[in-house]
Amino acid sequence: MAEGRSSIVITVFSTTSGIGKTLVATNLAAGLAQDGYAVCLIDLDLQYGDVANYLNLQDVPTIGDIPPNIPAEKIWNYISEYRYGDVTFSVLPAPFQIEKSYSIQEHTIISAINHLDYFNFIIVDTKSEFNDMNMAVMDISTIINFLCVADFVPAIKNLKNGYEAILRFGYDVNKVRPVLNRSGSQTLIDAEDVEIVLGKNFYHRLANDFKAASDSIHSGCPLILSNSNSRLKKDIYDLVGLYTNRPKKQAEQAKSNGLISFFKRLWSR
Ligand SMILES: Nc1ncnc2c1ncn2[C@@H]1O[C@H](COP(=O)(O)OP(=O)(O)O)[C@@H](O)[C@H]1O
Ligand SMILES: [Mg+2]
Repeated sequence: MAEGRSSIVITVFSTTSGIGKTLVATNLAAGLAQDGYAVCLIDLDLQYGDVANYLNLQDVPTIGDIPPNIPAEKIWNYISEYRYGDVTFSVLPAPFQIEKSYSIQEHTIISAINHLDYFNFIIVDTKSEFNDMNMAVMDISTIINFLCVADFVPAIKNLKNGYEAILRFGYDVNKVRPVLNRSGSQTLIDAEDVEIVLGKNFYHRLANDFKAASDSIHSGCPLILSNSNSRLKKDIYDLVGLYTNRPKKQAEQAKSNGLISFFKRLWSR
């Protein structure tokens, strides 16, 4: 965690586009909000950002509207709310017009994130590139969710190159967490072989389910908030839990519930 910051910043990054960063970022935001955390989702794919589309947000302010050197309290004018049922989280989308991306500077975004310290979690979606903006945000991130797919050889080459580069750039190996997306898809490449190539085990795996993923995108509702009973939804839920220690608590809860029901049965004899 960056010095003096209380928000946990999770950046979702990958070395190839179209592999699920936005799906994961929107669902992480929704899942953490569902668990009761104050969450802000920021789209740093400045030219082709999809967060607003995935959440069906229209006519809202974007990152491109934020003036440089904005006073802390004014940042709230640019934050929108996403709401689904009881779940709400804040969103700062990418510009709707490509040309607005040119004037966005790293220091504006970093100071905006610093001003947003009220949030428990700040989730940052990115473009697949080691550019100055992404690096500036990775510098202040608590966790880099390094999204991977094991589908074809060029993507795995990029994955390995990117993972090695990110470590060479000096990011702590514990901060960079490779997460396999589209796990179990029909490819000839085993996830275990990709782990050997990377020299690191996946922190988590998300199932391949094109229908669940695309249905959620088309509906404008993150999969984790939908009534889907897909494996992908459960995998995303578990990933959220890894960032909040929920599975451990649940396992302990289940254990203690088991013990209580054992004693109840004993006493009811
Ligand atoms: N686990 C998954 N299973 C099947 N399809 C997926 C999965 N994750 C993402 N997709 C699909 O991949 C496409 C690209 O996802 P997206 O999140 O926009 O990628 P990125 O942000 O990395 O460019 C979308 O059509 C989405 O439905
Ligand atoms: Mg995207």
